[in-house]
Amino acid sequence: MTEQTHQAPCVLVTGGAGYIGSHTLVSLVEAGYRPLVLDNFSNSARQAIERVGVLCGETPECIEGDIRDRSCLDDIFQRHPVTAVIHFAGLKSVGESVREPLRYYDNNVAGSVTLLQAMQAAGVDTLVFSSSATVYAPGVTMPVAEDAPLGPINPYGQSKLMVEQVIRDHCLAHPTFRAALLRYFNPTGAHPSGKLGESPRGTPENLVPYIAQVATGVRDALTVFGNDYDTVDGTGVRDYIHVMDLAEGHVHALDALRERTGAHTWNLGTGTGYSVLEMVRAYEKACGREIAYTVGERRPGDVGTCYACTRKAASELHWQASRDLEEMMRDNWRWQVSQDA
Ligand code: NAD
Ligand code: UD1
Repeated sequence: MTEQTHQAPCVLVTGGAGYIGSHTLVSLVEAGYRPLVLDNFSNSARQAIERVGVLCGETPECIEGDIRDRSCLDDIFQRHPVTAVIHFAGLKSVGESVREPLRYYDNNVAGSVTLLQAMQAAGVDTLVFSSSATVYAPGVTMPVAEDAPLGPINPYGQSKLMVEQVIRDHCLAHPTFRAALLRYFNPTGAHPSGKLGESPRGTPENLVPYIAQVATGVRDALTVFGNDYDTVDGTGVRDYIHVMDLAEGHVHALDALRERTGAHTWNLGTGTGYSVLEMVRAYEKACGREIAYTVGERRPGDVGTCYACTRKAASELHWQASRDLEEMMRDNWRWQVSQDA
């Protein structure tokens, strides 16, 4: 270990082997932090950490364990000089959360409470939490700002909003505690090296992973969920953000918390929306193949349009997304190709 890494502030990254977590490890190392990963590998593999090691020249320490395991957390805080926690660990499938709500409340809500209890006992007072644009109420005005009405419509979204509330209450009771509640829009893309990316298990629920599987021949055709929305071409519009922009947003959030206490909410999006068909065309351009699709029914619970107001993040985090759609699709495709190689 070099002297620099020894002195670097240690950040515990729960869920650090996952899609967003693993990319954030790269940004943390680049920014001079020493990430320490806790992951139960329920939706990831240790290989992701090794890939980060290849990219960064040093492999972050990774502990296999569960955020609901208090003794595991106490042990980590006792053994490592953790200064802050970035909390990605959680389950994220909307459909699954409708079928198995208790699993979601246990993992996402109870797990976060246990983490906060362990942080409090260890005197660690800085937390960055992965929330989601899904906490906003359907029908809010676009672009959606942080003070827009809230009202998630499925157990996954409820679990995110509940954790936000738990963190807000904890901050009120403990004035030295500080937290960033980061509401992500639609992360996509991969590390530009092609060495790190998203590896969804089973049939992808999200658009870009599904398109990628059509491009690689794993699936025959995309079903476009409705083409009768009030949008540019009738298909749903979302705010897709490059995962490396999102990763860098976490480093900015850590910096911003140095000079703040209390709970702060920030949207992490680009402020620009693209339709499903625009995404299909952009992916076709990146991969040089045609993406077959059929138009189906609207997906229950979907809204026509969702994109972020990015003003608060720009002025308070001094952060804004810089990578465009072409880069998101190109990096995603490079990752697909490198996996096949
Ligand atoms: P992911 O599934 O790739 O990563 C989550 C990681 O957490 C996985 O490595 C998983 O093994 C781990 N994990 C889950 N439960 C755990 C537990 N109890 N203890 C320890 N580890 C556990 O998901 P992601 O896309 O990287 O998302 C990260 C976070 O961001 C999640 O909380 C998710 O809800 C949130 N989020 C994701 C999106 C998105 O579109 N990907 C959008 C908004 C918010
Ligand atoms: C979904 C989740 C949301 C989560 C977000 C980011 C639901 C209802 N919502 O939202 O909680 O925060 O992902 O992870 O699942 N589409 C198709 N065909 C497909 C897949 C998607 O046409 O096979 C369309 C959708 O209708 C939507 C767009 O593509 O218009 C994006 O879908 P998706 O990637 O699932 O993201 P969200 O709908 O934003």
